[in-house]
Amino acid sequence: MTTRLPWLRVGALGAALLCGALALADDNSPRTDGALLPRDSTDAAIFRGGLVYANYCVTCHGINADGNGRAARLHTPRPANLRASDKNDAYIGLIVRRGGEAIGRSKGMPPWAEELTDEQIKDVVAFVRSVNGQHR
Ligand code: HEC
Repeated sequence: MTTRLPWLRVGALGAALLCGALALADDNSPRTDGALLPRDSTDAAIFRGGLVYANYCVTCHGINADGNGRAARLHTPRPANLRASDKNDAYIGLIVRRGGEAIGRSKGMPPWAEELTDEQIKDVVAFVRSVNGQHR
């Protein structure tokens, strides 16, 4: 039988991305004991940010956030290795909101202010900080 189930594949991909994104959070990973995370906690922000990342960032920055996403080779300069990023919250928030070109970097990094809510941006910033080990 050759019936295709595109929704299943998309669902599986989504789940795989989510797991990968969560695995990235390492020592800041969300609790897995079933307890609810307090909404305002850093862990909750990182968890939500992982979802944003899996949806909007992974094609370029990659499942390991190392800049090796599927679309990475289309860009010169390449998407940043977020694991090696030494940028602070303010800078990451700025480049995510306004894109690379507006701040004198590559237009390969798109602006997300129209796409994402303020909370999503805050959350994805927390996620990026968690993978670059600077969320201390
Ligand atoms: C279409 C490809 C693409 C997508 C999608 C993308 N980026 Fe980027 N991003 C880039 C490129 C290319 C650069 C490098 C820009 C440069 O070096 O001038 C970059 C740079 C960055 C940087 C700067 C890191 C540093 O240390 O200087 C951050 C942070 C970043 N991206 C976060 C994100 C986040 C978060 C998302 C998802 C909301 C995202 N990017 C989606 C291509 C992309």
